[in-house]
Amino acid sequence: MAAEASVRRVAPARQLAGELVVPGDKSISHRALLLNALAAGPARVQGLGLGADVRATERCLQALGVAIEPLGENARLIQGVGLRGLQEPADVLDAGNSGTTMRLLCGVLAGQPFFAVLTGDASLRRRPMGRVLEPLRQMGAMAWGRAGGALAPLAIRGGELRGLDYTLPVASAQLKSALLLAGLYATGPTHLREPAASRDHTERLLRAQGVALQVAGRDLWLTPPTAPLRPLDLVVPGDFSAAAFWLVAACVHPAARITIRGVGVNPGRTGLLDVLQAMGARLHVTNPREVGGEPVADLTAESSDLRGIAIGGDLIPRLLDEVPVLAVAMAVARGPSRIDDAAELRVKESDRLHTVACELGRMGAAVEEQPAGLRFAGGSRLRGAVVDSHGDHRLAMALAVAALVAAGETTITAADSVAVSYPAFWEHLAQLTA
Ligand code: S3P
Repeated sequence: MAAEASVRRVAPARQLAGELVVPGDKSISHRALLLNALAAGPARVQGLGLGADVRATERCLQALGVAIEPLGENARLIQGVGLRGLQEPADVLDAGNSGTTMRLLCGVLAGQPFFAVLTGDASLRRRPMGRVLEPLRQMGAMAWGRAGGALAPLAIRGGELRGLDYTLPVASAQLKSALLLAGLYATGPTHLREPAASRDHTERLLRAQGVALQVAGRDLWLTPPTAPLRPLDLVVPGDFSAAAFWLVAACVHPAARITIRGVGVNPGRTGLLDVLQAMGARLHVTNPREVGGEPVADLTAESSDLRGIAIGGDLIPRLLDEVPVLAVAMAVARGPSRIDDAAELRVKESDRLHTVACELGRMGAAVEEQPAGLRFAGGSRLRGAVVDSHGDHRLAMALAVAALVAAGETTITAADSVAVSYPAFWEHLAQLTA
């Protein structure tokens, strides 16, 4: 796409009002496709978040011989081939911008008696993959990558795997999921220990498929299944990480009330709710229910008088993807804020500690980058500016939220990156500001 085509101009909003349904949860959508592909028989999944990332997973699975057909809007019929039914791909598998696609597939490919190569876009080819390949090698897979196995493109020749007893060096749901998936193919049990809890969507789905998986605190034990995985007909809840942009937008705007219906509120994902509430946000969680084995609710946020806050520790994995937009709230809140223990943000779709500080700084935010976090003076009055999303979908959307409360117009470059997780983002923004 031409650079000019992906520039967006966002004017300050006079008010923000309305109700929305956000796309299906990206993390659950990847897993719903992948785990049903490994199940024995057909499954229908509705409410998928079919952004570019989830489509990358779909294409890779098709390249591995899985038939996936559209079933109306945001729904798919997946013809599961069983744990041993995948075929050697004829070409390189392209994960695009999607870390979840690449890392989860590494786990599956480690168990396959064939050769596969995985690549991705320039951003994904900079992100750390050694953390996945190393334990997979310990299980018995052969795996290679650039920079001594640290970077994609990756090549994997799987086969007979042993169970693994392993302490994860980082709280990463993608790494944990890759190892659990490989564990399905191992001859013995796999025991993992996480330094802090990360999202547990894989665990919930595997259990629903009949896999023996025990969890106690930060420890997980998976017993390789002797029976085929059960296909799961599912409805995917709305993506909390997409809803997060509107929750913060409403809280920081002086004339706002936004409701988002049917949002996944898995506690591993909702750290932002806790933080905004502690900052004094007017947030309402209503109509709690369960959808597809996940907690779901309607969320309403209103104009709020936010106070600064200091966060870190085990809370960080619970709001990992929300830091770019939380930074907007911290910049404008009354009093200083800080985020610590967030070094992992440096290896996301962009180096988010750097890119967030740099681009919000251009808009007048008093924000300082730290080795593992961010510091905010608070009370910043944002002004429109020319800012760069660095091709990072969540940064593009966070900058758009900042633009809604800035003085003057903001120009966001590479703004089409929102299609990675939220293709309707600009339309929804237009609806809420109309
Ligand atoms: C994801 C896990 C998180 C998150 C990413 C999606 C997943 O990364 O940042 O956007 O679907 O498992 P980690 O692997 O660092 O937890």
